[in-house]
Amino acid sequence: MNVAVFASHGGSDLQAIIDGCKNNKMNAQVVAVISNNSDSMALQRARNEKIPAYHLSAKKSGGEDSLAKEILDVLSKHGVDMIFLAGYMRMLHISVLEKYDHRIFNIHPALLPKFGGKGMYGMNVHKAVIEAGETETGVTIHRVNAEYDSGEIVAQTKVPVMEGDTPETLAARVLAREHEFLVEVLSDISEGKIAIG
Ligand code: GRF
Repeated sequence: MNVAVFASHGGSDLQAIIDGCKNNKMNAQVVAVISNNSDSMALQRARNEKIPAYHLSAKKSGGEDSLAKEILDVLSKHGVDMIFLAGYMRMLHISVLEKYDHRIFNIHPALLPKFGGKGMYGMNVHKAVIEAGETETGVTIHRVNAEYDSGEIVAQTKVPVMEGDTPETLAARVLAREHEFLVEVLSDISEGKIAIG
């Protein structure tokens, strides 16, 4: 399974996927990494691994339509079977959503449908979980459609909220779980246990 990973910032999830592929934990390889952020660690991590890394943004391409065309060109050039959004802070263009329908997944650091939607990203999510007095949170992997965080949920795992947690301590616990969970779920996708197409 040829995977393209889209990421905007740190790329620790991307690294977990790359490592999972290298350690044969899944029948897959990361064939391209795309970021809207030229400074993202994700691009650096891809370059370190000799994986084709692309900085593509609407600003650089001259608009959303031309950006989508560039993204589609990269995806077809690398024979991409599946797209994974690992901290990608942009909505995908409808032409990309349509062409890769059912083959695009996102990871969200909470138990959707709770704590999702526009504005629910990064520390905002963990802050909201703590403020709501939740005793557990988790990680959700879902298919991507044209609305934030609302596509079909394909896998979830729970993570406890501990007494005295701050958004930062909770974020660190959730992220550590993401790294393991991603490998489990991508392995299921690569074996056809979760369908693509
Ligand atoms: C993760 O918390 C993920 O759930 C969210 O973005 C974050 C990515 O972290 N979608 P990193 O950039 O991979 O370290």
